[in-house]
Amino acid sequence: MFDTMTITKTVGALCGSLLVFLLGSWAAEAIFHVGPSGHGADGKVEQAYYIDTGGDDAAAETEAAPVDFDTLMANADVSKGEKLFKKCQACHKLEEGANATGPSLYHVVGRPVESVDSFGGYSGALKEAADVWTPENLFAYLEDPKAFAPGNKMAFAGFKKPEERADIIAYLESTEN
Ligand code: HEC
Repeated sequence: MFDTMTITKTVGALCGSLLVFLLGSWAAEAIFHVGPSGHGADGKVEQAYYIDTGGDDAAAETEAAPVDFDTLMANADVSKGEKLFKKCQACHKLEEGANATGPSLYHVVGRPVESVDSFGGYSGALKEAADVWTPENLFAYLEDPKAFAPGNKMAFAGFKKPEERADIIAYLESTEN
């Protein structure tokens, strides 16, 4: 009763349904992927994309810049700046055309960079870093002169405290009136 034809059909039918089953489960796997990679190691569902609410950024900004530049300048202390300027006086004078180791700082706030013609010691490095000594540029230069203008010849370490730099700039500005 089991002739060759019946055996062939039976085997064929078994193979066929096995194939359909394999294909079916593969397709289901591909469509509804529920493997471990769909979840984080701790079992939390990972987000496919990230919605930026801006909340974290705002928090990071307040941490990075506790006091902004305008606030620093508004609270600057001219008389403290005058005392701090003694460190600059080793190399700089405020009188017009009075150069020393460094160029005269007469009306330096708002002055074009490297513009004291009678001073022969400019390195050219400052011009690479800035065009005009705005309060912002002075603020950056005086924090770390070497980093602001690599190769510049001002042998001064800088003031790390933002308040001190603001005080000096306020003092320099006050001498321009
Ligand atoms: C050890 C000497 C020295 C000290 C101290 C010093 N400077 Fe200078 N400064 C220089 C020299 C030299 C230059 C010219 C740098 C160059 O051209 O590379 C210069 C350049 C400058 C310039 C650029 C001027 C221009 O015409 O472009 C400014 C602004 C300045 N100094 C501010 C200050 C201030 C403010 C202080 C104090 C916090 C100070 N310096 C302390 C030597 C000094």
